[in-house]
Amino acid sequence: MSSTSSEKGIISFTIPDYVRHRKLIEWISNIVQLTKPEKVFWCDGSQEEYNQLCEQLVQNGTMVKLNPNKRPNSFLARSEPSDVARVENCTYICSEKKDDAGPMNNWLPPSEMRRKLNKLFSGCMKGRTLYVIPFSMGPFGSSISHIGIELTDSPYVVVNMRMMTRMGREAYNFLGENGEFIPCIHSVGSPLINGKKDVPWPCNETKYIVHYPETREIWSFGSGYGGNALLGKKCFALRIASNMGHDQGWLAEHMLILGVISPQGRKYHIAAAFPSACGKTNFAMLIPPQGMDGWKVTTIGDDIAWIKPEKNGALRAINPEAGYFGVAPGTNEKTNYNAMATLKSNVIFTNVALTDEGDVWWEGMTDDLPSHLIDWQGKHWTPEIFKNTGRKAAHPNSRFTVSASQCPSIDPNWEDPNGVVIDAFIFGSRRSNTIPLVSEARNWVEGIYMAATMGSETTSAAIGNQKQGTVRRDPFAMLPFCGYNMNDYFNHWLKLGKQIQANGGKLPKIYYVNWFRKDINGKFIWPGFGDNMRVLRWILGRIQGESKGFDQLFGISPSYQDMDWTGLEFTPEQFEKVISIDKKSWENELISHDELFDKLFKKIPEDLLRVREKIGCRLK
Ligand code: OXD
Ligand code: MN
Repeated sequence: MSSTSSEKGIISFTIPDYVRHRKLIEWISNIVQLTKPEKVFWCDGSQEEYNQLCEQLVQNGTMVKLNPNKRPNSFLARSEPSDVARVENCTYICSEKKDDAGPMNNWLPPSEMRRKLNKLFSGCMKGRTLYVIPFSMGPFGSSISHIGIELTDSPYVVVNMRMMTRMGREAYNFLGENGEFIPCIHSVGSPLINGKKDVPWPCNETKYIVHYPETREIWSFGSGYGGNALLGKKCFALRIASNMGHDQGWLAEHMLILGVISPQGRKYHIAAAFPSACGKTNFAMLIPPQGMDGWKVTTIGDDIAWIKPEKNGALRAINPEAGYFGVAPGTNEKTNYNAMATLKSNVIFTNVALTDEGDVWWEGMTDDLPSHLIDWQGKHWTPEIFKNTGRKAAHPNSRFTVSASQCPSIDPNWEDPNGVVIDAFIFGSRRSNTIPLVSEARNWVEGIYMAATMGSETTSAAIGNQKQGTVRRDPFAMLPFCGYNMNDYFNHWLKLGKQIQANGGKLPKIYYVNWFRKDINGKFIWPGFGDNMRVLRWILGRIQGESKGFDQLFGISPSYQDMDWTGLEFTPEQFEKVISIDKKSWENELISHDELFDKLFKKIPEDLLRVREKIGCRLK
């Protein structure tokens, strides 16, 4: 270990010998002098370190240890009621030019934001420990992976990052003396000064989640929750990585990756984008329904895909994450058997309810309600209280953090440094009406139009200015995650398609799905979950040139007889309700597409406008 100097007012700390990267050391020194932590702790990612930090979090009241007979090695954390989701209103892309952030992102000039953040970060870690987290997004040694270093004053972030990324000293070996890394700075913004005692969930009313795309830096202040604080996830793997992908010719997408093996043993890989809390984890861990037993689905990723084109045009994808930060409510043995099996041990739950036996519970976990719980805010909860007040036991955005390696459906190649070749893209959204169960784009450009105009009913994954359940346009499910101008992003996809074709490559087919159509009583018509395998089967049949379909207003859809119904009673009338196009609602839908295009100003790619025109003509 070597030591930094210790002049007056300068914080001294030691630098381990295995850290040899001059720029990295210089950056950490600058952040230490700015934030003034009491100590610096170099995380090694070991199990002992994890255990010790969990113990410390229990001591501090941040986490409760669950009953080891019910849920071995697992914990429940409760956050402040004001810090429960991503804060999109406080999330910024601070590019040099406003136009590079585009009309969908919050923006401030970098110099102005740096002034603001300098003030906020100044002394913000006083009395706390600054943890240095070395991590890789993607398997170590993969040419698709990238390395990050997160500096944080939250031990809760450290233990979550250990499951969500490949965290450990190995990252320094890959960095060597001058390797590329993404600097990520995070503070809960709650210095322990003037005798202030720590609280179980420190945070700050003022929150900023800031990205500087040109210098590829992330600065996050004031929140300890999920995507605001685990900076490898949305901030790095999507917002910064989408910029890297744009500049370097690859894709960083809000997509799960799954494998499907046919009864004949042929394997396909699908990448699928859905907005937050629309069942991505369930889809990634799907178990085919009865009657389709010969099919098998394997899980590669449940939230993010990094996809790089090979010279021959093949698109190779990895899951940059190493764990799942999934939404708990609604997860049960029926909706996601594999997730429930993954969650048997070694889990950190956040904001779910605690049972009297020391286990966890959330809405939708069991049919019967427990007679008594401690809710996510630490208050007593009974079914009676719920009936009288509507107060939920678990927060709707409560989460589990768990290592992907525990998932029974994990794909044997999920850590293959070469990634897997993508055969099809699926885009899906949550719509009670209008959008059919499945449609295939007639070509790449139509597929991009479908993805670009995606709208979804809002959920509780973000705190925002919209009421839950209203439709917001969420292009490519990337609205909160695209780190640059959305028009340039559309063009990036269009250009990539042209490049692949020019190289003689075969473009993956593109599909648009909607599992969420409702009947007049507000009940879902499509059974969803395992039965989504039927849609996957039709899609794979299309890729093989075996499944039939008919031309719709919006792509090609299956007729009733084109689907495999073995083991499910679903009538042609019911199918009509999930596949049909209603002219009136489509007229409104197109108006809403136009509103999106207006918002995106005049830069919208011509190719997409031509698709819009064609749909308009067909509608007439
Ligand atoms: C997530 C999200 O946490 O999309 O995955 O909000
Ligand atoms: Mn997500």
